[in-house]
Amino acid sequence: MNDLFTISETINFTLTDILLEASYLIASVLFIIGLKMLSNPQSARKGNIWAAIGMVLAIITTILFHRQNGQPIGNIGYILTAIAIGTIIGWSIAIKVKMTAMPQLVSLFNGMGGASAALISLMEFPHISPELIAAEGMMNGHVLAILLGLVIGSVSFAGSMIALGKLDGRIGDIRSPFMRYINISLLLFLLVFIVYIMNLGQVIPAEISYLIYILLAVSMVYGIAFVMPIGGADMPVVISLLNSFTGVAAAMGGFLYSNQAMLTGGILVGSAGTILTILMCKAMNRSLLNVIIGAFGGGGTAMEHEEGNIREITLSDAAVLLNYSQKVVIVPGYGLAVAQAQHICHDLDKMLESKGVEVKYAIHPVAGRMPGHMNVLLAEADVPYEKLIESEDINPELPNTDVVVVIGANDVVNPAAQDDPASPIYGMPIINARAAKNIIVMKRGMGKGYAAIENYLFFDPKTRMLFGNAKDTLQALVAEIKEL
Ligand code: TAP
Repeated sequence: MNDLFTISETINFTLTDILLEASYLIASVLFIIGLKMLSNPQSARKGNIWAAIGMVLAIITTILFHRQNGQPIGNIGYILTAIAIGTIIGWSIAIKVKMTAMPQLVSLFNGMGGASAALISLMEFPHISPELIAAEGMMNGHVLAILLGLVIGSVSFAGSMIALGKLDGRIGDIRSPFMRYINISLLLFLLVFIVYIMNLGQVIPAEISYLIYILLAVSMVYGIAFVMPIGGADMPVVISLLNSFTGVAAAMGGFLYSNQAMLTGGILVGSAGTILTILMCKAMNRSLLNVIIGAFGGGGTAMEHEEGNIREITLSDAAVLLNYSQKVVIVPGYGLAVAQAQHICHDLDKMLESKGVEVKYAIHPVAGRMPGHMNVLLAEADVPYEKLIESEDINPELPNTDVVVVIGANDVVNPAAQDDPASPIYGMPIINARAAKNIIVMKRGMGKGYAAIENYLFFDPKTRMLFGNAKDTLQALVAEIKEL
């Protein structure tokens, strides 16, 4: 009888174990399918749902099947309450958020992921078994995973909170030539401190848990200090880097708990974020090392520029100019998204094409407020994908373009990036709108772009301003062209 009980207990344990591992495998596959589907605007929404299903599956099966020394998970009441509170808060924020505030939401959620990874480490460090330490000394993978999870998670949390404040306009840039030295020193301190803790020998972790609080504090200071100087047009690079940090920190937790779903999820976020960061660095002409030590942009005061006069164009003149052009390039930016003018913009391009004008869109990698913002916006309006041309491919065509129509874009066409070494956006590749034969700029007034600097493209003799909300202006323009 006793034997039978033991066998059934063993089988029972094995079954739950197999079910749990199988569910993690399915969840991991769903994450990968979801991520793959995110690469196309048409399938992105479904991809998000597939990945979310994977996450829900992993959470449910962990609660049902996870066993610690043969015992099911305890504190179920607390766990379900925490999940319910998190779900309600996350859902209500996500439902209300405007598309243009998406980067702030991404920063907030990313920061929460980093904080969770750091909390795991804080909790687990004092619980490292003294036997394990005695057997192996402190040099083991688990301790390293705990320390790295803490450092990377808290850097990501603190950095994301600063990024959130900056994107919201509540925190300004703090730049100083000393900042990079402070950041390098903090980084070195973190590395040396990790090595020090790893080499403490056979001490009881619970007795030295104060050390991990020092590590936490310095990591948070570094997270704040490395994001603080970054401004101008460079925030997207930092956001994607922080995103990859959270992924790596979560993967450390997966390694610690031998949890395949957490490990796969973390690695996917970490590697996708790293690839995006590298692509962003390339697109913005910045080096990854400079991002990490918070040394960005020109950092000086922008060069005084002869402003000259602003010249306006009337709706009817703009309609005639566009109607009788051979080639028109539209440069969409953040203002197009704010005005939700993507559909009417597509109407304009269809109408011009019906009149024999060749129309293309110039897409800058950081136009708008999130990676791929313009692609998603224009896909929503059914603009064919092949009409969207990246900056480096469209730039050579611009000297032969009759009219460039800049709609709610500013920083991505600012010549200061090419001409002014003191400008915070200096070195960033731009869409070279000023090379075109004529430039029409649609915006509400003389408001600055995200980098908060003057744009003397607007004072160029070839430029004419068409002031107003982008949607209203485009509607009126389409009506005018229809009449011709
Ligand atoms: P911005 O430089 O931000 O300029 C947008 C312009 O749109 C403003 O000058 C504004 O001028 C105009 N505008 C706003 N609402 C409008 C409306 N309803 N109708 C017409 N115009 C309107 O945009 P951009 O050229 O797309 O550059 C993006 C910037 O954001 C870059 O600096 C980039 O680094 C930064 N950023 C990007 C991301 C990502 S990942 N894409 C994330 C964070 C930050 P008025 O006020 O005069 O109308």
